[in-house]
Amino acid sequence: MITVFGSLNVDYVFQMDRLPQPGETLLASNLTVLPGGKGGNQALAAAKAGAGVRMIGAVGKDGLGNIALAGLSANGVDTSHVTKLEQTTGTAAINVDADGENSIVVFPGANGGASHLQLEGCGFADTAILLLQFEIPSAEIEKAISLAKQSGTRVIWNLAPMQPVPLAVLKDVDCLLINQGELDALCKSLGLVSGDRTNLSHKDGIRAVAELTGQSVVVTLGAKGCAAFHQNRLIEVTALPVTPIDTVGAGDAFAGAFAAALDQNQTFEDALNWGNVAGALACLQPGAQSSLPTHAQIVQRLPDLAL
Ligand code: RIB
Repeated sequence: MITVFGSLNVDYVFQMDRLPQPGETLLASNLTVLPGGKGGNQALAAAKAGAGVRMIGAVGKDGLGNIALAGLSANGVDTSHVTKLEQTTGTAAINVDADGENSIVVFPGANGGASHLQLEGCGFADTAILLLQFEIPSAEIEKAISLAKQSGTRVIWNLAPMQPVPLAVLKDVDCLLINQGELDALCKSLGLVSGDRTNLSHKDGIRAVAELTGQSVVVTLGAKGCAAFHQNRLIEVTALPVTPIDTVGAGDAFAGAFAAALDQNQTFEDALNWGNVAGALACLQPGAQSSLPTHAQIVQRLPDLAL
């Protein structure tokens, strides 16, 4: 069982030829309203990849809350511990250009009321993995990590969107999942970049963070696949080649499938493969949750990863 403690949003996805410049107004060619939030997306990705999943978070009592939860309930995610608050449901404005690139602005709304007390309420007895992101308050995440440590639950934290984190907290996280930009920001915030350098190569970066925290670090590299530093070893995985239509949610697809693989006792290397395939397949349809692959779709494409 995986417990996801994180955000639940409604995504307003604007389609356009190119992303706007500062001060510029553009007309969008299409608008879709879809369930989203990194927490909800990762919960659904893990469930579709075959894991039992419980979602812990908060939505508003407005009609948007039901939109945010619809895909999760329909795919067997336990949402019975999601609270409904007076605030507006978390909302994201997502611009997607003709090449599938995106920019996202999130208003957290009810996500700001997600509490670690909800985790105490549902218990950790059946949870092997706690999967976290960074769209709910950091104080609540830190308390959740502490609860997980007490109960021997493995913690995977996707540090997105990246914010500085105390080193002592990172040392309690079994596996950090980050993209290249988040890795650069993390290395800077931990004082791992010195002299005139503004960043480290991704290999040096994940090694440095892994050695400092004593834990595993995975960096996703988009079309270049991913790399990890795990148990004193560098692991590199090439991406499944695809022509992306929309990259929204690709990182969430990776995180959910990676966690689901570990929950199903796959090796760390195989979990990276599952994540890589899921992230690539998630780029083939618009929207974050509509594009998440099933367990069968992931397994079918694993042999297509170049060795
Ligand atoms: O990672 C994609 C997600 O980021 C979107 O669904 C949006 O809600 C934001 O949380």
